[in-house]
Amino acid sequence: MKTVEALSIRKLKDNYGAEVIGVDISAGDPDTLQEVVNTFNLHGAVLLRGQSLTPAQLLAFARGFGEPEGHTIKEHTMPGFPEIYMLSNREVDGKPIGSHRDGVGWHTDYSYKEQPVMCTMLYAVEVPAEGSDTLLADMCAAYDALPEDRRQSLDGLMVHHSYEHLMTTRLYAKRELSPELKAENPDVVHPLIRTHPANGRKALWPSSGTVKGVIGMDNPAGIDLVESLVEYATQPQFVYRHKWQVGDLLVWDNRCSLHTGTLFDDKKYIREAYRLWVKGGKPF
Ligand code: SIN
Repeated sequence: MKTVEALSIRKLKDNYGAEVIGVDISAGDPDTLQEVVNTFNLHGAVLLRGQSLTPAQLLAFARGFGEPEGHTIKEHTMPGFPEIYMLSNREVDGKPIGSHRDGVGWHTDYSYKEQPVMCTMLYAVEVPAEGSDTLLADMCAAYDALPEDRRQSLDGLMVHHSYEHLMTTRLYAKRELSPELKAENPDVVHPLIRTHPANGRKALWPSSGTVKGVIGMDNPAGIDLVESLVEYATQPQFVYRHKWQVGDLLVWDNRCSLHTGTLFDDKKYIREAYRLWVKGGKPF
């Protein structure tokens, strides 16, 4: 295999995330793509700016990370590209072309499935002049910063995640589930602290939205515990705030990150971004 020179990177935060400088991913060079994936594996998140990608090129990029995951709600996937989910407040002929305010609230994607997605990627096509930042929080750093006795008290706790709970209780884009969506998305249980399969690091993995409680704890104590951990783990020292530019491609590792979208003035601005997911394994 041809060796590429080490990519030039700039850290997004001290110990989390890296921007890869000066790489045009549209060329589809497999060695460069592998280096980008390696950078992602080392840093937990990777950013490429100034990209100009067709849907097919975006999908080829995602395939470099693994097998793309399908989307739970099909109505906002891109025609001809079921792996690409459109986030937008744009309407065409009175109909939204994408999902709006879909990811507002700290969470990790697909936590309501047995095998949550390994990574999420967002590609910015149109960006509001203000607002709509995406925030990523480093869950390994949050875990590492816990006192030892606190880690021990949390280790082994299992969290109950529910897609139905998410969709019927969230603030935005709420909906009742069809019988099909209910059947396709039964509740699951995942550890509160998970181990990253690639490097063995432990990560706090609390999430919100899908969390119904903690196994063996009554509510509200269980849900309060998870909410308090989300609050703890999303303090500024753990968070990278991404301010979008057109052509940004941001990928984050859901095994060691929480993320949230933020609001913008949707009467004044249009946002259009494409989201792709790559399959992951069962958390342990
Ligand atoms: C997401 O949570 O999948 C999207 C986040 C965002 O809209 O910035």
